[in-house]
Amino acid sequence: MENVSEDTKAFLTTAKVYSGELDKVQIIDYYNTWDDYEKDLQPGRYNGPVFAAEAIDRSFPSHKDQVLILDVAAGTGFVGEELVKRNFKEIHALDPSASMLMKAKKKNVYKKFLYTYHCVVCSGGFGSGHIPSGALKEFIRITKPGGVVVVVMREEFLNIPEYGDNLETLMKQFQNEGLWMCIERSVVQKYFCEKTGVIFRYRVLHRHL
Ligand SMILES: C[S@@+](CC[C@H](N)C(=O)[O-])C[C@H]1O[C@@H](n2cnc3c(N)ncnc32)[C@H](O)[C@@H]1O
Repeated sequence: MENVSEDTKAFLTTAKVYSGELDKVQIIDYYNTWDDYEKDLQPGRYNGPVFAAEAIDRSFPSHKDQVLILDVAAGTGFVGEELVKRNFKEIHALDPSASMLMKAKKKNVYKKFLYTYHCVVCSGGFGSGHIPSGALKEFIRITKPGGVVVVVMREEFLNIPEYGDNLETLMKQFQNEGLWMCIERSVVQKYFCEKTGVIFRYRVLHRHL
């Protein structure tokens, strides 16, 4: 029973930040003051970071220490921790919440600098009031040709009004324009609590600077 109510509390706390009721500044404030974030989104309940790291592992089976990775919406560094467990080392973090990034910094898993990357990963960054769809083109721009973009998100968030028709329509449009090519689209169970997630893995063909 203890677990059920903890799950419910975590689910409702998370529902608020993705509700569409908060503007961008309020969302960042929300993350800045979300002290129990790591408890609420602990592995087992929120599995986006594991799904994201496993997807990257599938794309880069060797020379992992040389793969330059940008973690977009890195938060407190859950994805970084999962990547380090899998022997990735060159990981940079990007997030608008200073307080989330401070927690990530303490983990000593990220290095900084701005680059073009072999891999850009985003776990849990897309949803109401979060990353706009236009960022996908930026992901392509900062990924080296031949590199990989991994997006892991709640499946139902593909269809929120601010993503217009559907976030996936834009992904397909970029494929039709020859910017990238889909190498994986998997639906996974228990992405967050009982919600399904979707894992996208795209190979970048042209950076379109
Ligand atoms: C649910 S957390 C996911 C954190 C981490 N990727 C993980 O999987 O644990 C969402 C993160 O998105 C960040 N975020 C919100 N709006 C954003 C935006 N417009 N651009 C980039 N990051 C954003 C928040 O600060 C927060 O750290």
